[in-house]
Amino acid sequence: MSRSEKGPNLTVKLSGVELKNPIMPASGTFGSGKEFEEYLNLNRLGMVVTKGVADVPWKGNATPRVAETYGGMLNSVGLQNPGSDHFIREDIPFLESYDTKTMVNIAGRSIEEYVGVVTALQHQPVDFLELNISCPNIKEGGVAFGTDVDMAYQVTKKVKEAAKQPLIVKLSPNVTDIVAVAKACEAAGADGISLINTLLGMKMDIKTRSPLLANTFGGLSGPAIKPVALRMVYQVAREINIPIIGIGGISTWEDALEFILAGATAVQVGTANFRNPRAMMEIIEGLENYLKEENIDGIEELIGAGHK
Ligand SMILES: Cc1cc2nc3c(=O)[nH]c(=O)nc-3n(C[C@H](O)[C@H](O)[C@H](O)COP(=O)(O)O)c2cc1C
Repeated sequence: MSRSEKGPNLTVKLSGVELKNPIMPASGTFGSGKEFEEYLNLNRLGMVVTKGVADVPWKGNATPRVAETYGGMLNSVGLQNPGSDHFIREDIPFLESYDTKTMVNIAGRSIEEYVGVVTALQHQPVDFLELNISCPNIKEGGVAFGTDVDMAYQVTKKVKEAAKQPLIVKLSPNVTDIVAVAKACEAAGADGISLINTLLGMKMDIKTRSPLLANTFGGLSGPAIKPVALRMVYQVAREINIPIIGIGGISTWEDALEFILAGATAVQVGTANFRNPRAMMEIIEGLENYLKEENIDGIEELIGAGHK
């Protein structure tokens, strides 16, 4: 079949698995997709990425735990979730009713907790695991694993031993040397890297003259973090040989394309979903049009094409 009959080819291969296109939601901004069913067709997405799932229910942090900022938002939700048993019972059958790949985001406070969730998912119809070692909003574990090279190595290695699905490790930008952490995860057996999670920030309430978030600090997301995220994807892409999923402030197809040119095989859309629940559909259509107009056979040709 010629290209004109097939239409522009957005398929990408991520750690050996073919995705319809490189567009997926960022964890925690899309639930498991149910809330978005009326706005978009989940079958059109390259993959659905779930909210963070822990081994037992977590109640999250005290409120207020979200705040608006210039070009984005702060959140200190703290990975509130009903636990893996509930997830397997309620969310997996829902996701299975769609013809799209699924990636489950894994939360934990210790290596044992992470391994517990991954073990519970071993025989479930899940295509990828995304290990969140980068949440700035929980006291123990979480970001501590993602900001220490040795700990990032240890947790990746142990989780990989228990994992039956390809393992993507999600990195924190709250480090001085992102490349060192990415390399440690690759050496420990990660099948891919996703980056970035939120940047640690805060906001003052000038009326009460105290921090606005009950947790004092929160994670900054949205367009404001895009240049930092893009820089990190570019740097990591030069140094590792496993695929990268780019995340951070992506709201338009042009943003998504920038990350692909920087070396991302796929991208996640987070905060933009709150403002425009159809953002991912518009990004997919925008990329299709771009390929058509530029006469490019497939999006895979563009991965990393922006490196000099
Ligand atoms: C409200 C909210 C909840 C989030 N929950 C999670 C989560 O459960 N697990 C995770 O790995 N990242 C979580 N994140 C981080 C996002 O997945 C993403 O990495 C980050 O927001 C940057 O992308 P964005 O600028 O497109 O939002 C959350 C972000 C927000 C705003």
